[in-house]
Amino acid sequence: MTVDHYATAADGWAGGAELVYRPIARELIAMSPHSLAGRRVLDVGAGTGAASTALLDRGAQPIGIDLSHHMLAWDASHRPPATVGDVTRLPVRPQSVDDAVAAFVYNHLRDPLAGFAEARRVVRAGGAVLACTYSNRSHSGVRDALDDAARAEGWLPPDWYGEVKQHAAPLLGTEERRVAGAAGLVDVVVEERPVEVGVTTAQQLVDYRLGQAHFAPWLGQLRPDQAAALRSRLVAAITPIMAPYRPLVVFLAATVPPSY
Ligand SMILES: C[S@@+](CC[C@H](N)C(=O)[O-])C[C@H]1O[C@@H](n2cnc3c(N)ncnc32)[C@H](O)[C@@H]1O
Repeated sequence: MTVDHYATAADGWAGGAELVYRPIARELIAMSPHSLAGRRVLDVGAGTGAASTALLDRGAQPIGIDLSHHMLAWDASHRPPATVGDVTRLPVRPQSVDDAVAAFVYNHLRDPLAGFAEARRVVRAGGAVLACTYSNRSHSGVRDALDDAARAEGWLPPDWYGEVKQHAAPLLGTEERRVAGAAGLVDVVVEERPVEVGVTTAQQLVDYRLGQAHFAPWLGQLRPDQAAALRSRLVAAITPIMAPYRPLVVFLAATVPPSY
């Protein structure tokens, strides 16, 4: 059975984590080899809609798919159409969408090739597949200090988070070009670069980091006043060493070949 690790994460994600995921989604969409205006684009692993919003801004018609009903339900009445589904078994007919975007979702798969292969199956010939994940080499001293301060407050990273880092991330961070090629995609462009996400204050970094799904169950156990006090202590802990947060991201843009 597939477990929904994002089942309580939507508020934190939309209100905090998206500080970082929204600007990265904009850069990912800009990697498209053609204009996305007027095209039906699948946003797989859509979450609370960071990439869908970036697609709307470019005039595309996004359709979200995510394992987590909870993430898709966030602000659903103001969002493009979306449905629950697994990126390795998309509930979509072959060659029925123009393009696909996968922002930070293939890193959740034991076998990222299965995600790329499904995107190739459902995207029409000539369509783009755009994907991104953090580089294995992405490092931030202040983010690590924040995690250490959270551990000292009682946070324990959940097992699934360690598994994501151990299994899929190494394949995507350095091997993404090979994996996309093995899925039958062509014209694969991979770029690894730091992104200026605009997170420059300790408060923003705490809002981003604590908004991620691996913090949600722990924060959910706290009363609102306890959570507010915790956030203040974490902000105080990292303020002396705060530096602009520039995650190192691997961006991939590829095309579905005509013969498929
Ligand atoms: C790191 S979040 C990224 C959300 C969004 N794309 C963004 O950039 O803000 C990963 C999302 O992928 C979803 N997800 C994880 N595994 C999935 C799977 N096998 N199929 C579909 N969605 C999945 C999670 O529920 C979550 O919403």
